[in-house]
Amino acid sequence: MQKTNVLFVCLGNICRSPMAESMFKKMVAEKGLTQDFQISSAATSSEEEGNQPHPGARKEMDLHNLDYSGHRSHPVTTGELQAADYIITMDNYNIQDLAKMLPKTELPKLHLCMEVVPGKSTQAIVDPWYTHRFNDTYQMLAESLPLWLTKMEESRKDHHGK
Ligand code: 4NP
Repeated sequence: MQKTNVLFVCLGNICRSPMAESMFKKMVAEKGLTQDFQISSAATSSEEEGNQPHPGARKEMDLHNLDYSGHRSHPVTTGELQAADYIITMDNYNIQDLAKMLPKTELPKLHLCMEVVPGKSTQAIVDPWYTHRFNDTYQMLAESLPLWLTKMEESRKDHHGK
């Protein structure tokens, strides 16, 4: 069975999406599912290209034993967008930017990270680049990402053998 390709996207790829990538990789590894997933992250801008995660994001990730070694910000490519099964974005600006890069038929792959959280489905993941509240970002991701993983596992089971 093919790997499920998950791409996290934010504006700079130094705060929210690298944190999401690292947290999701850890959750997947803890369930023994690493071989079933291809997980990465990218930016809608080239502002931070080549940079490692923001010091505040690194500090927050260190607190939770999250690995971000080797991560460098890069602008998303159309190839990455096309290869992804799930493009999980942090806010509606990300959605608007990415929608311009995708053919209409591919738009259903574009998601807001919080859309799976009951009662919070339209919320943006707060951008700590502006707020410096990196733990708020972590908490929102900790609330939404397990729900995404459950959804993806269910989808993999449904498609198994088909
Ligand atoms: P991120 O945060 O999108 O969560 O990585 C930001 C990083 C950089 C900028 C804005 C937000 N910037 O304008 O350079």
